[in-house]
Amino acid sequence: MPLKGKKIVLCITGSIAAYKAVYLLRGLMKAGAEVQVLMTEAAKEFVAPLTFSSLSGKPVLSAFFSKESGSWNSHVDLGLWADLFLVAPATASTIGKMANGICDNLVVTTYMSVRCPVMVAPAMDLDMFGHPSMLENLNKLRAFGNLIIEPVSGELASGLSGKGRMEEPDNILKTIEIFFSEKKKS
Ligand SMILES: Cc1cc2nc3c(=O)[nH]c(=O)nc-3n(C[C@H](O)[C@H](O)[C@H](O)COP(=O)(O)O)c2cc1C
Repeated sequence: MPLKGKKIVLCITGSIAAYKAVYLLRGLMKAGAEVQVLMTEAAKEFVAPLTFSSLSGKPVLSAFFSKESGSWNSHVDLGLWADLFLVAPATASTIGKMANGICDNLVVTTYMSVRCPVMVAPAMDLDMFGHPSMLENLNKLRAFGNLIIEPVSGELASGLSGKGRMEEPDNILKTIEIFFSEKKKS
C-alpha cells in the first residue's frame, strides 16, 4: 500500500467536480492513507457529507464549532496532524481565499495552519480558469510552494469545452504516490 500511514486532509469545495472526490477518497483509502475530509458549505450542496464520512470512517468537518454543544474543530491540530493538505476540487473562490489569506471557513483556516505540503486541483469553467485573477492567484500559490495539479482540457459541465476540468482522480492519486515515494528517496 503506497500511502500506508500517510495522513491526508482532503478538502472538497463547491464545484460540480465534487463527485470526483468520492473516487479520489476511495483511491486514497485503498492506497492505505488515513483521510480527514473537510468540506465547505457550498461543497455540501453537491455531494452529501455522509458519502465521505462513510468512505473515510471519520466524520466530515465543516464548521468551526457546534452551536449546540460548544465543541469546536481545531484547525491548528489538523494542521499539525497532516502529511498532505489536498484541495480537490478547488473552486475559484477557495483559490482566491487561499492566495489572499481570507480565513472565513475551516478549509482556508486549516490551509493557513498546515506545515505539510499542499496540493491544489482546480476545477472550473474555461473562462474562470483563464481569468487574470485566477492566473495571478495560482501564481501566488506556486510562490507559496504549493503544487498545482493542472486541470485538463475537455468537455465541461457548462457544455463548453476548454481547460478547467479537474484532473482525473487516478492521475491525482498517481501524483501523490510519486510525490511521497520521491520524498522517501531524498
Ligand atoms: C451548478 C454549479 C456548479 C459550480 N461549479 C463550479 C466549479 O466547478 N468551479 C468553481 O470555481 N465554482 C463553481 N460554482 C460556483 C461555486 O459553487 C461558488 O463560487 C461557491 O461560492 C464556492 O464556494 P467554496 O469555494 O467555499 O466551496 C458552481 C456553482 C453551481 C451552482
